[in-house]
Amino acid sequence: MYDNNPTIEDVRKELKSHTNIPLGEDRQGEVLEMKAGQGAKKFYIESYGCQMNFSDSEIVASVLAEEGFSSTRDMEESDLILINTCSIREKAEDTVRKRLTVFNKVKERKPELIVGVLGCMAERLKKKFLEEEKIVDIVVGPDAYRDLPVLVAGAEEGNKGVNVFLSREETYADISPLRLGSNGVSAFISIMRGCDNMCSFCVVPFTRGRERSRDAFSIVSEAQDLYDRGYREVTLLGQNVDSYKWKNPETEEVVSFAQLMEMVALVHPDLRVRFSTSHPKDMTDDVLHMMAKYENICNYIHLPVQSGNSRVLELMNRTYDADWYRERVESIYRIIPDCAISSDIIAGFCTETEEEHQDTLDMIEWARYSMSYMFYYSERPGTLAAKKYEDDIPLEVKKRRLTEIVNLQNRISLEQNRKDIGKTFKVLIEGESKRSDQDFKGRNSQNKMVIFPKQEGLGPGDYVDVTVTEVTSATLKGHIA
Ligand code: SAH
Ligand code: SF4
Ligand code: F3S
Repeated sequence: MYDNNPTIEDVRKELKSHTNIPLGEDRQGEVLEMKAGQGAKKFYIESYGCQMNFSDSEIVASVLAEEGFSSTRDMEESDLILINTCSIREKAEDTVRKRLTVFNKVKERKPELIVGVLGCMAERLKKKFLEEEKIVDIVVGPDAYRDLPVLVAGAEEGNKGVNVFLSREETYADISPLRLGSNGVSAFISIMRGCDNMCSFCVVPFTRGRERSRDAFSIVSEAQDLYDRGYREVTLLGQNVDSYKWKNPETEEVVSFAQLMEMVALVHPDLRVRFSTSHPKDMTDDVLHMMAKYENICNYIHLPVQSGNSRVLELMNRTYDADWYRERVESIYRIIPDCAISSDIIAGFCTETEEEHQDTLDMIEWARYSMSYMFYYSERPGTLAAKKYEDDIPLEVKKRRLTEIVNLQNRISLEQNRKDIGKTFKVLIEGESKRSDQDFKGRNSQNKMVIFPKQEGLGPGDYVDVTVTEVTSATLKGHIA
């Protein structure tokens, strides 16, 4: 949409005319505290699942703050308990049900307490939830959070409520998320919602609806606001960020993901830009070139492979094969030589043979992932795989294959991290290390956690060069260069 090399002034100029969120505005954080002082009603929220869900909880918090609610970390003193749920694997749903029994205990002592289920499990089970779990008062799907105040008011009157309407337009573009549990340094910005891919194992298209991209200017404005409030890192979120595509209704110009990344990178050279998740079928070289062009776009790509075998990938309906994936990885290492790549892997998908499992192990070794999220296949009701294929790999076999995958990934992570010994990285300080109050923790561009002794005058949000001296499979340790 800009010819080439746009400046932040170009972006700002357009920004002013396209959004009603003023740059650098101070948002509901303060409002929240004010209202809390006035004895307002309190909500308590727990989030499960992916970053998208955590990001949605911040939208929910903002919607409730507008209604005079304040947040609390103590469920005992809350008037409204919300649980933002995930359906991705059976275990995720089991966790939610266990939490509901805990909330039930609180409700026994405090009958006027309202319990609401939000997110993907709410969307999947809809009003069945109210039948299955008697303690639940409201059920709200991911596109219906604007309706929360109405549903809560109804519940206060004793009416249970459900809104699981999935929208084709909702992106909550105009809602300024209220940052929950933030370190004040890194924040997530949701850039799109839903998913149009139909990976056969996956419940997300059913729980999140159709893919839609958010107004690019509202994204830049949110990034600018975060920067002005001291944040130094934003992660652009979507199930498939590479298919981001927003059409400016006034000019008809289309903003691609690579262009969006550039617009956000231009907010300030000290604002790091990350993104997640990339789908291998849509990750194009223009994204890689954009990453190479801007130092503040981090050299890290989460590129889930799922399986290293083409037959299994086809059954999964991932729409790429192992060769396509390898070509994408080669392009990444060619265009951004010091890029780190991570992955998601599913062990024991329907009909997977030992040889096909071996192909996945070979892929981990070949792609040199810095880390992976690894799971064994969990059949989800309603998905293509549940309808078409038998979940025929015995649980012990799934678990054994998963263990092999985890062990190999740990070895590869350690090998990859060892290559970093002696190197110096620019690290963004996030806070104190969990293990020792004498150390800081932060991340390098490759998204690796770096631990190093504190130095006076430095704190969260500062950049510092750290030389790596020792490593584990999960972290780098070093000292300020
Ligand atoms: N949109 C992202 C993934 C979102 S879900 C992408 O396409 O990469 C996160 C991960 O959960 C998936 O990448 C997959 O590895 C895993 N997953 C999804 N459904 C699963 C299932 N039914 N069983 C086991 N793992 C699953
Ligand atoms: Fe699920 Fe596939 Fe969409 Fe990712 S791309 S959310 S795995 S359907
Ligand atoms: Fe779970 Fe929904 Fe995310 S199913 S992984 S919370 S999109």
